[in-house]
Amino acid sequence: MNKMKIYLLISNTNDFSILFAWCVLLLLHTHSVQAEPISQDCPNTANYTSNSQFETNLNILLPSLLSNGTQDGFFNTSVGTGSDIVYGLVQCRGDISTEQCRNCLNTSIVEVFQRCPNVKQAVLRYEYCFLRYSDAQFFSRVDGPLVAAGRGDGQVSDTVANRYNQQLGSFLVDLFETAASTPSRYSSGSTSYADFNNIYGLVQCTRDLSTNDCASCLESLRNWIPGCCNRTTGAQIFQKTCYLRVWIISEYSKLLLHDAGDATSKSTNIVVIVVPIIVATWKLWREGNALQLVDPTLQYSFTGNQVIRCIHIGLLCVQENVEDRPTMSSVCLMLSSYSITPEPPKAPAFTLVTRTAANDSKSSSSLLYSDDGITYPR
Ligand SMILES: *[C@@H]1O[C@H](CO)[C@@H](O)[C@H](O)[C@H]1NC(C)=O
Ligand SMILES: *[C@@H]1O[C@H](CO)[C@@H](O)[C@H](O)[C@H]1NC(C)=O
Ligand SMILES: *[C@@H]1O[C@H](CO)[C@@H](O)[C@H](O)[C@H]1NC(C)=O
Ligand SMILES: *[C@@H]1O[C@H](CO)[C@@H](O)[C@H](O)[C@H]1NC(C)=O
Ligand SMILES: *[C@@H]1O[C@H](CO)[C@@H](O)[C@H](O)[C@H]1NC(C)=O
Ligand SMILES: *[C@@H]1O[C@H](CO)[C@@H](O)[C@H](O)[C@H]1NC(C)=O
Repeated sequence: MNKMKIYLLISNTNDFSILFAWCVLLLLHTHSVQAEPISQDCPNTANYTSNSQFETNLNILLPSLLSNGTQDGFFNTSVGTGSDIVYGLVQCRGDISTEQCRNCLNTSIVEVFQRCPNVKQAVLRYEYCFLRYSDAQFFSRVDGPLVAAGRGDGQVSDTVANRYNQQLGSFLVDLFETAASTPSRYSSGSTSYADFNNIYGLVQCTRDLSTNDCASCLESLRNWIPGCCNRTTGAQIFQKTCYLRVWIISEYSKLLLHDAGDATSKSTNIVVIVVPIIVATWKLWREGNALQLVDPTLQYSFTGNQVIRCIHIGLLCVQENVEDRPTMSSVCLMLSSYSITPEPPKAPAFTLVTRTAANDSKSSSSLLYSDDGITYPR
């Protein structure tokens, strides 16, 4: 995958036909994808039986997590006593709306029964929210081994590697400090490590952790980076109580967010744009005559504006959360109309590289990504 590069050759003539060809090809490859958890961990080392008191308690717990957790994005509580007690915790990502939070939590409490049937301990992590319940008390503890790690497809080039590593290091220090000292235990931001290239990142601990515990949880995640994600274009690493995600977006995609109206002057000197992100949509249109689009020997005529719009829409199509990706009809609308301003893109998807559930060989821990890291618009 990452060996492929897509070149768009640019001149200043006007030609919309390629955009329309792309649009039509996308339409031909419409996929429907459900919102999937990023990771799930449901060890079947302890099961409950149907109609047991534990099940009854769980059925009381989950709706209460939903209704109370939606209020301010976090809630923990327990239901029952003795051996039938069930502890539960939900949390939404620090930057999403109440409605997104409610929808995600609602999905999680419905799906947990399907994905983790009859188990006494479960962790489901979605893009926007997190659900955990257990028969053992787990609040306020940095807990468990690494659940999973994933990485982006590409690698930062040799020439900027040192700068990248330095910048990533200090960037993470800042993010960790902010997250650990903020009540939401969430922090996100970006930094530049080379001309036209930014690192974006977000980290979060569950809110029951103290400042120190949050910091040490995040610190333990950072230690995985050299092994799993040395210089890769993205990394995401989870533990039950915290997670970390960083990814790179080139300035080209930012250009279009801010200067989409006037890119003609910028296009004149750009002869070749390498569009690694669009590689992810490669599978969608490689079978058709869109091949021409990526043939570096062919001269295609785009204005800078069009190319930038393409990249932007491409980015939107590979956002990790399926719900954030534009529908096919809106992709076509965006491609054919400059009056529609696409939303800023969010993080692209990652590929699973590590999966650990130490001490628990029976665990069904998993990070749910397509194995080739390719994602589809919905
Ligand atoms: C729990 O149930 C699963 C399948 O339903 C089974 O494979 C597993 O052995 C059970 N665990 C225990 C501890 O009984
Ligand atoms: C949580 O929500 C339930 C409704 O599902 C409500 O009865 C309960 O009082 C709430 N608990 C707290 C602590 O707010
Ligand atoms: C939620 O977790 C905190 C921190 O451990 C704890 O003090 C509190 O009692 C928990 N809330 C409930 C309702 O159990
Ligand atoms: C949760 O989702 C179901 C459909 O899956 C829907 O019927 C229900 O109204 C939703 N509940 C809330 C509180 O959003
Ligand atoms: C990262 O990879 C480079 C080669 O690409 C290697 O020289 C370096 O030692 C690696 N760093 C770590 C921390 O593993
Ligand atoms: C899990 O493994 C770690 C190190 O591998 C060990 O320190 C810990 O005691 C183990 N926990 C259990 C419950 O076996």
